[in-house]
Amino acid sequence: MAEGRKRVLSGIQPSGTLHLGNYFGMMKPSIELQDSGQECFYFIADYHALTQMPDPKQLRERSVGVAVDFLACGLDPERTTFFRQSDVPEVHELTWILSCLTPVGLLERCHSYKDKIARGLVPNHGLFSYPVLMAADILIYGSHLVPVGKDQKQHLEVTRDLAIRFNNAYGEILVVPEAMIRDEVAVVPGLDGQKMSKSYDNTIELFGEPKATRQKIMRIVTDSTPMESPKNPDTCNVFALYTLMASAAEIADLRARYLAGGMGYGHAKQALAEKYSQTFAGLRERRQELLADPRRVEDILQAGAARARAVARETLNRVRAAVGVG
Ligand code: ADP
Ligand code: TRP
Repeated sequence: MAEGRKRVLSGIQPSGTLHLGNYFGMMKPSIELQDSGQECFYFIADYHALTQMPDPKQLRERSVGVAVDFLACGLDPERTTFFRQSDVPEVHELTWILSCLTPVGLLERCHSYKDKIARGLVPNHGLFSYPVLMAADILIYGSHLVPVGKDQKQHLEVTRDLAIRFNNAYGEILVVPEAMIRDEVAVVPGLDGQKMSKSYDNTIELFGEPKATRQKIMRIVTDSTPMESPKNPDTCNVFALYTLMASAAEIADLRARYLAGGMGYGHAKQALAEKYSQTFAGLRERRQELLADPRRVEDILQAGAARARAVARETLNRVRAAVGVG
């Protein structure tokens, strides 16, 4: 890595069809970071998704599907090291070594684990040790910055804690990373106004079928202000989604129409549907090209894994020597 450059690393689980919340909350900011002058490592966290024991065929297809969607959205494999977690098995060796430094109580306190148990899920050991695998993901690449949503903040704290414990015990070998927590305002609302999430069945898919997507947009919940009355854009889900895609002038124009009255929510929804199809038309085309060439996508992931493995190997060799194995 060039002097002064920092390594940015993030992962996404291939756990479902990507939606506008994932795109505006995670994918777009990650892709924009490619222009920041830092060195980006992004990966598909298929071993993390395995903690939910999905159907094998589905897990494999979703992993490739997320890769295709990311590439279609502008992830540039020339500039970014893009790979599948399971193509770098070295990460498990570091996971074990870190596990031996991890107090059980630290994992028992993790909210995401506690929440799942509270919802009645019977945990497997993988779910319990999930944050240790995540720490290994981050530490094995000597990552400096980790952009994640707020829900992952505690896992970053665990990662930092483990890196510090390791360095105290064995010498300054691991980089202690910083979280880059994405801003709260970036929460994208779903059809019902709650946070858009596949768990709430309120999503607009990123690459949904056009007609079905239009119908979904027409179903977005609005208040019952009559057609002729002025409307408040700042409390409207349709307007919130529109602002993510439109230019400043277009947003100002729609705002004025809300405030003036005489415009029904149906019109705002039409404007949103138009904007959605314009915004993603080019990306859809690129996605079709990638879908038609699965070999190319696999080659990209393999080339990324080879680059990632070289970095992982180097860290692992130093770690193994430090702890006295091998
Ligand atoms: P879901 O809630 O649909 O299960 P995930 O938890 O898998 O989504 O999220 C994957 C990434 O997308 C995370 O980085 C998360 O912060 C981001 N993300 C998901 N939903 C939203 C949303 N509605 N607004 C902003 N970011 C989101
Ligand atoms: N746990 C993260 C999530 O569910 C995904 C992930 C796995 C990750 N390993 C990571 C994110 C390392 C950042 C860095 O969103």
